[in-house]
Amino acid sequence: MLTLEPAKIADTETIWHLRNDVATRRELGLKVISFAECLDWVANIVERKSKENLLVAKDDKLGIVGFVVILGYDTNCGAIKVSIGSAFRGRGYGRQSIKLSNDYAKQHSIKRLTAEIRGENYKALFAFEDAGYSESRTFTRGPSNTEYFTYEWNA
Ligand SMILES: CC(C)(COP(=O)(O)OP(=O)(O)OC[C@H]1O[C@@H](n2cnc3c(N)ncnc32)[C@H](O)[C@@H]1OP(=O)(O)O)[C@@H](O)C(=O)NCCC(=O)NCCS
Repeated sequence: MLTLEPAKIADTETIWHLRNDVATRRELGLKVISFAECLDWVANIVERKSKENLLVAKDDKLGIVGFVVILGYDTNCGAIKVSIGSAFRGRGYGRQSIKLSNDYAKQHSIKRLTAEIRGENYKALFAFEDAGYSESRTFTRGPSNTEYFTYEWNA
């Protein structure tokens, strides 16, 4: 069974490895960070000094398999980013994490969640669609005009 819960400082090392994963960095537009930088990031969120919310996706047998970031959780609209560890992909954890994020949003009065997904990131497009998101716009980014979709979920 998969659960989604707020990250704790003790989760930092696992989150650090997940966050520095090559595919995750490419798809989420992240740079490699040191453990100290990751600790700062997690601590700021845990201490509520950041507008980001960080949730860990935990399998009852395997432990943390991924994480979800919701930016702007204190408003009624949030931007969501989901990452599942490369060893755990293709088992439904991505889709389940997004569905659990929808439940989390409802509990925290977030009315709308949006995700920016690269057009070739089929797994993410499938997972978000299956979790009740629909395409709201397309745009291009970067020197090679990479196509992106904005996907949106409304409570
Ligand atoms: C995108 C990501 C979260 C998906 O997680 P996952 O656990 O591997 O995905 P799931 O196992 O839940 O599968 C999601 C869908 O992709 C499909 N899928 C799985 N492997 C696939 C493959 N190789 N090619 C195409 N589709 C595939 C599944 O069948 C499922 O579709 P369905 O719901 O219609 O059955 C994960 O690949 C990841 O962390 N990527 C890096 C970060 C990222 O891209 N985040 C998304 C942008 S916010």
